[in-house]
Amino acid sequence: MTKPLYLMANWKMYVGPKEAGALAKRSLGLAKKMPRGVNLVLFPSALSFSEVKKLIGKSKVAAGAQNVYWVGRGGETGEVSAQMYKEAGAKYALVGHSERRHLFHENNHDVRQKIEAALAVGLIPVLCVGETKNEKQNGDAEEVIEAHLRAAYTEINWPKKTPLIIAYEPVWAISHGAGKNQQGEYCDPKKAEQTHLLIKHFTTALVPGVAPVVLYGGSVRPNTVVDYVAMPNVDGVLVGAASTKPPEWEAIVKNALKV
Ligand code: PGA
Repeated sequence: MTKPLYLMANWKMYVGPKEAGALAKRSLGLAKKMPRGVNLVLFPSALSFSEVKKLIGKSKVAAGAQNVYWVGRGGETGEVSAQMYKEAGAKYALVGHSERRHLFHENNHDVRQKIEAALAVGLIPVLCVGETKNEKQNGDAEEVIEAHLRAAYTEINWPKKTPLIIAYEPVWAISHGAGKNQQGEYCDPKKAEQTHLLIKHFTTALVPGVAPVVLYGGSVRPNTVVDYVAMPNVDGVLVGAASTKPPEWEAIVKNALKV
């Protein structure tokens, strides 16, 4: 392995508090054999965050928020702020996940506020971008991705030592629907590589002097992770459904480390 590698597990709303502890312990076991330069990150639900953080402690496993709100403290019933996640020991925050954008109508303006709030408290935002099936079919993928990036980063004051991480998640490739077994369409790793290059190109123009890290997400499985991670501009993976099944997640991590 020659480049830093990010292996991120987005547990979405699949994992309740009872299961979360057991899953975190499995990742702790995996981390023992991890070489330097590998970043293993878990994104539990808000409900399980503190328990997971307590278990992983100061190990090589980090934890992040699936979503954050930009106001620090206030009357926003049901929300959890970036500031509160920071206080609870989060290192990362997912921002603009397609499920937030499409199911909860988060727009590019909300996404920008979340990125700024995350940066302000010292969380590393992981911006999710990607086109829907319709946008792909209409030939609009590049335009959509560029719009996501522009809204997120135009004239942003990026803190020098904070990694700039983007997850390219084509919406049509994400596991979806009635359960965690339902796989999305396969995104050819070579096609993903091209899009990652494009994302790096756009991002470098928007935030000069910071090398972007671009992860791939969308139905990553033990048998496909190697093909993605082997691409020069794929710096890791963001895994949803498969990260909640211990044998699959363990195989994904082990296979990724072989590249
Ligand atoms: P998936 O989810 O691996 O279940 O497709 C990825 C994501 O949405 O982050």
